[in-house]
Amino acid sequence: MREFTYRSRDGDVKVLINIDHGEALERITKDYTGCVVYASGNIANRVKATCPVIPIVDGEEGKSIETALGIVRSAHEVGIDRDGLFIGVGGGSVLDVVGFSASIYLRGVDYVNVPTTMLSMVDASLGGKTGVNALGLKNVIGVIRQPRYIIIDLSFLDSLPMPNYLDGFAEVIKYGVTMDRELLNGVMGNADGLINRDRALLEDVIYKSLRDKASIVEVDELDKSGVRAVLNYGHTVGHAIESATNFSVSHGKAVALGMVCEARVGVRLGYTPRDVPNLLMNALSMFNLINEVDVDVNKLVGAMLRDKKRSGDFIKLPVVIDVGRWDVVRVGIKELTELVISECRSMP
Ligand SMILES: NC(=O)c1ccc[n+]([C@@H]2O[C@H](COP(=O)([O-])OP(=O)(O)OC[C@H]3O[C@@H](n4cnc5c(N)ncnc54)[C@H](O)[C@@H]3O)[C@@H](O)[C@H]2O)c1
Repeated sequence: MREFTYRSRDGDVKVLINIDHGEALERITKDYTGCVVYASGNIANRVKATCPVIPIVDGEEGKSIETALGIVRSAHEVGIDRDGLFIGVGGGSVLDVVGFSASIYLRGVDYVNVPTTMLSMVDASLGGKTGVNALGLKNVIGVIRQPRYIIIDLSFLDSLPMPNYLDGFAEVIKYGVTMDRELLNGVMGNADGLINRDRALLEDVIYKSLRDKASIVEVDELDKSGVRAVLNYGHTVGHAIESATNFSVSHGKAVALGMVCEARVGVRLGYTPRDVPNLLMNALSMFNLINEVDVDVNKLVGAMLRDKKRSGDFIKLPVVIDVGRWDVVRVGIKELTELVISECRSMP
């Protein structure tokens, strides 16, 4: 078991990695007047907790204002007061809606994240971005509010289908290439063990990934100064790939291709060393994250132009300046469009 604490506006957040969630929750819930667990429907029966467990719909469809209202209603019925606790157990979709509901219930109660997918273990569970989809727009309603605890119980990964499991490694490789050379080397050197879900290797990789993310969240919690933009590496093009292919490409694979494309653009802009795109291709291929994708480059550029990180005629683009080192640069939309068309016309 490994643990660390990161600081936030809402107080310290404790992260416990490779621990039985039942034991951890038993200790934590003692400090609260009451608690309620909201869990992904298909894993609710695996939750070990002394408080009521309420299954909720997961996925993008469950991440809605209606789900949040249902959570508020049931918390009221269970009798949760301002010193009570919400516990979210599930993938990123569940954690996002439970965290959001905790933020608005009685003007805010504490909450705990228990992630159950690889993506949510290395990414969505930490950072305090909570929210729901509405009006056909993703994450359009939300707030930044940190959980009190993040509990990583690796046994949840046992039932995760392989493609879903491997998808989470796109974010791990993102942390590695942008800010943690040692993590990237470790992931590439131990790919077979990680694919086989070796718990000791996973503990190390998840610990390093979350520490890296926390180091960024601590200095730019509200996503205002530009530092947090590094977490978006590969996502400007990745989100555009998802949208241009009507979400037929998984998030991890879209971000993987997005990183390769953005690395090529970084080379052309003169920031990124020439060997980085191939290094990324090698690392991502080990986790089966690089596939041929038939994407219309004009649609891709159209989606990129609607990116919410855009400000006027510029976009803030994170770039790798050496393996494990990054910067955020302002690139003109016109220049970026031309570079993406020339460098990413055939993906990968
Ligand atoms: N808040 C953040 O910082 C942040 C960061 C990244 C992503 N996200 C959000 O996370 C969501 C995606 O999260 P996700 O990839 O974890 O997917 P998800 O929550 O949509 O879950 C994907 C599928 O996995 C299933 N599942 C969950 N745990 C399982 C387990 N242990 N065994 C078997 N099946 C299991 C679920 O039932 C679901 O069908 C998106 O909504 C995205 O916006 C948020």
